[in-house]
Amino acid sequence: MHIAVIGSGYVGLVTGACFAEFGVTVTCVDNDAEKIERLNQYKIPFYEPGLEDLVRRNAEQGRLFFTTDLGAAVSEALVVFIAVGTPPQEDGSADLSYVEGVAREIAKHLTSYKVIVTKSTVPVGTGERVRSLIEAERKEGVDFDIVSNPEFLREGAAIEDFMRPNRVIIGARSQQAVAIMKDLYRPLYLIETPFVITNVETAELIKYAANSFLAVKISFINEMSRLCEQVGADVNVVAKGMGLDGRIGAKFLHAGAGFGGSCFPKDTRAMLKIAADHGVPFEIVRAAISANERQVARNAERILAVMGADLKNMSIAVLGLSFKPNTDDIREAPALRLIGQLQAAGAAIRAYDPVAMDNARNALPEVRFCRDAYDACQGADAVVIMTEWNQFRNLDLARIKKSMRSAFFFDFRNVYDPAKVRAEGFEYRSIGRP
Ligand code: UDX
Repeated sequence: MHIAVIGSGYVGLVTGACFAEFGVTVTCVDNDAEKIERLNQYKIPFYEPGLEDLVRRNAEQGRLFFTTDLGAAVSEALVVFIAVGTPPQEDGSADLSYVEGVAREIAKHLTSYKVIVTKSTVPVGTGERVRSLIEAERKEGVDFDIVSNPEFLREGAAIEDFMRPNRVIIGARSQQAVAIMKDLYRPLYLIETPFVITNVETAELIKYAANSFLAVKISFINEMSRLCEQVGADVNVVAKGMGLDGRIGAKFLHAGAGFGGSCFPKDTRAMLKIAADHGVPFEIVRAAISANERQVARNAERILAVMGADLKNMSIAVLGLSFKPNTDDIREAPALRLIGQLQAAGAAIRAYDPVAMDNARNALPEVRFCRDAYDACQGADAVVIMTEWNQFRNLDLARIKKSMRSAFFFDFRNVYDPAKVRAEGFEYRSIGRP
């Protein structure tokens, strides 16, 4: 089977490469000629573990192609995935201009029956919008179907999440389209991956519902962490105790610096807008968003409360800039907000991140980017862990203590055991723990 994937970003490139790994012939399309040029040299425009090898292997074996020619890719394909960005607009709604632009382009090249699939996270009703756009512009009499097949790819684990998904969601009207999608996903069918077959609107909503609920879980435990700090409880143990209840589950109950990234902030705001547009009050998701705002803002407040409001002449080492480990993505990363607030208080910032420093350079002009965690801590008055990269989990604390000017240690991802760090002479603070 031949498929086309329009949009070669975080979602489209992983989707295309993984389908090629399944033996499907895939053409990835992007309107950024420079990106396509680099992809043809197997250069990946972002950090995603394992993706370079996957792309190289499948391209060399003649199953994966990259082009800017959308028309050619679409006319050869039976299934066309729309995987372009749906960035948030001011009012929180998703900007669908890229999706709509691609839909019109596809319509022009609809020469035979095709299945048009929205892979990007799109508001409920987008499938129908795409259908009407294509109907209006396509050649008379050429048939097509619309499918919603939302992605559940976590950055840093995207290939794993594609190859071994918890479920595949297929929203469609026609049985023919469902049959074609099942055929495309047959390798997953064979490993008994659960398939949820439903209508387009339900499939679109499942994605928002899942991400919004995950965000609610994180904000729940983050708010719980603030109460733990007041009453002397340990939020990690509260999370463990809660999570052992099979109805709750242990995942996404890690209290921390607040959630960031390109999905949760965008999808929760879009969720609110979708609900508001349909006159449905959505107070729980709204509360999760404002709880996260407070959690992200609080990181700097806690540092100022301990070190004083005036940080002039203070040097602070920030370990981790990406919004989570195993990605170079700094979108809505809590570390960026923290650095801005500390600089406003007069602090000089030294930062280290294993992969995100290139992306952060233009966003953080005054920051001194360091070689590694130890370099960052050199002469610093405080060290702040903002992203729980594995390489930060067993730092030589004695060496760091010796190299620092003062001994403040803020662990906003609860990486360390408080007793251990305090035993090294640090003034230690973490999230939701004594
Ligand atoms: C998320 C969804 O998990 C994925 O299914 C969807 O397709 C895209 O959005 P992603 O944003 O890549 O994936 O990262 P994820 O691992 O979900 O974490 C999101 C944010 O929540 C990160 O900032 C992370 O630090 C934070 N987080 C996650 C917590 O603070 N606590 C947790 O327990 C889990």
